Amino acid sequence: MNNQDKIKELIQLREKAKMGGGEKRIEDQHNKGKNTARERINMLLDDGSFEEYDMFVTHRSTDFGLEKKKYYGDGVITGHGTIDGRVVFIFSQDFTVLGGSLSETFANKICKVMDQAMKMGAPIIGINDSGGARIQEGVTSLAGYAEIFERNILASGVIPQISAVFGPCAGGAVYSPALTDVIIMSEATSYMFVTGPKVAKTVTGEDISIEDLGGADVHSSKSGVAHFKVDDEEEGLLVIRKILEYVPNNNLEDPAISESDDPFDRKEDSLNEIIPENPNTPYDVKEVIYGIVDDQEFLEFHRHWARNVVVGFAKFDGHPVGIVANQPNYLAGVLDINASRKAARFVRFCDSFNIPLVTFVDVPGFLPGSSQEYGGIITHGAKLMFAYGEATVPKITVTLRKSYGGAHDVMSSKQLRGDINYAWPTAEIAVMGPKGAIEVLEGKKIKDMEEEEAKKFIEEKEEEYREKFANPYVAAKYGYIDDVIEPRNTRFRVVRALQTLATKKDTLPPKKHSNIPL
Ligand code: HXC
Repeated sequence: MNNQDKIKELIQLREKAKMGGGEKRIEDQHNKGKNTARERINMLLDDGSFEEYDMFVTHRSTDFGLEKKKYYGDGVITGHGTIDGRVVFIFSQDFTVLGGSLSETFANKICKVMDQAMKMGAPIIGINDSGGARIQEGVTSLAGYAEIFERNILASGVIPQISAVFGPCAGGAVYSPALTDVIIMSEATSYMFVTGPKVAKTVTGEDISIEDLGGADVHSSKSGVAHFKVDDEEEGLLVIRKILEYVPNNNLEDPAISESDDPFDRKEDSLNEIIPENPNTPYDVKEVIYGIVDDQEFLEFHRHWARNVVVGFAKFDGHPVGIVANQPNYLAGVLDINASRKAARFVRFCDSFNIPLVTFVDVPGFLPGSSQEYGGIITHGAKLMFAYGEATVPKITVTLRKSYGGAHDVMSSKQLRGDINYAWPTAEIAVMGPKGAIEVLEGKKIKDMEEEEAKKFIEEKEEEYREKFANPYVAAKYGYIDDVIEPRNTRFRVVRALQTLATKKDTLPPKKHSNIPL
């Protein structure tokens, strides 16, 4: 073969590799409403930026006739490219090759790009669409998974790891996405479960469909496994690009600051009117968020799960921040198990990657009752406390209305190393709400009263309590609140606080690692 033939051969081999499992299987993939692994990479990365690794890798298995089923690339496409000019590493599982099942060589390819991402300090993105462990390979496939898991664990908090699930992701395979920072699931085409419907039926007798067991709806609203549910793959890939706008390449860098046309001192007059006169009337805290962040842009995580707390990314004068806000519009903004888990994980994600935290507080307390206590609200609430107390990024807190009891301490209070703690004049910072307080303090007296007399007495006492404690000035008197601010000025005050805290340095005592109440 002369040199020109060798070049021709290379071109032909490349073309063959690019066809994955072949035309028919690509057609099947499209018929299922899915893009191919390669199409997904091309849609996500900047045009022409993809550099592929290991295109000619094939598996080495000879069992169950696998020696006759060899495909270049072996079912996963790996490499690097850029997103908005920033280098990212990527793997994309190719369902057209043996159902995207994971072999030893498949795992090696993923491990190689994960190692490169760690060396380069660049984000790693995984697109999952796989039938799981390659059954014919047996234990080497399991070992391959574990190699990936270990890398996910070591990379956690060092480089951002983002997972998209655009097809099946079952069995132990779910644990790689679960170990990453963000999971995005596409509606109708994706599912995740540790054991599928058939096994569930055999072991427990439960009759359940794939969608009801592990579809995107389930994981974005019931289990909280998925952070984003998207209508289609295009939207999912856009979410990945969006997330990368807020996070730096690695834990040693700060998030990129962008130009903003939204005036940093813009007053939002509507906020002076947003808190209802009746303290028990709800309002939508997202109106507060949208009102004060740059250009009304808020990338909300877990939009459908634990809606009593709202978390997500936004910018203030071009500075990325993580926002955590109690949501009075849902369960009165109470902290329960799921809300605590959701917010705690988000706080740690932000702290890992030097993203300042802005917290909006309107919380009546922790949700009472046996289901919460039996479920371990003590441990889960402690997670959120731990996450805030451990976080060393700039922490700005604005108390909008209620801030009661343990929940007050938890929500980025001054004593958990909150840097700048503001309150609106409508804030009520106390051990508990007036109703509960009067019941505890005056309960015995009330029991002996006639109904009318009791009603009047309770009203008077509640008013007295509200005047004394349910305001921001007692906390401000002790310096627990740095300033009481006019709601319409909140954007400006947050921007200035972020500028001031930009050089913040805070540390933790030397230790191997903390023992967060998991
Ligand atoms: C080998 C596999 C495979 C696998 C699919 N294929 N999964 N080959 N190992 N795990 C092959 C199929 O045999 C088929 O090949 C081709 O991929 C396409 O699969 P279909 O079944 O035709 O596709 P579809 O109807 O869309 O169904 C997709 C599926 C199903 C639901 C994912 O393939 C399936 O149930 N696969 C097995 C899932 C599973 O139990 N995996 C192991 C999980 S345990 P041909 O040539 O016939 O077209 C696990 C342990 C990991 O992963 C532990 C880590 C710690």
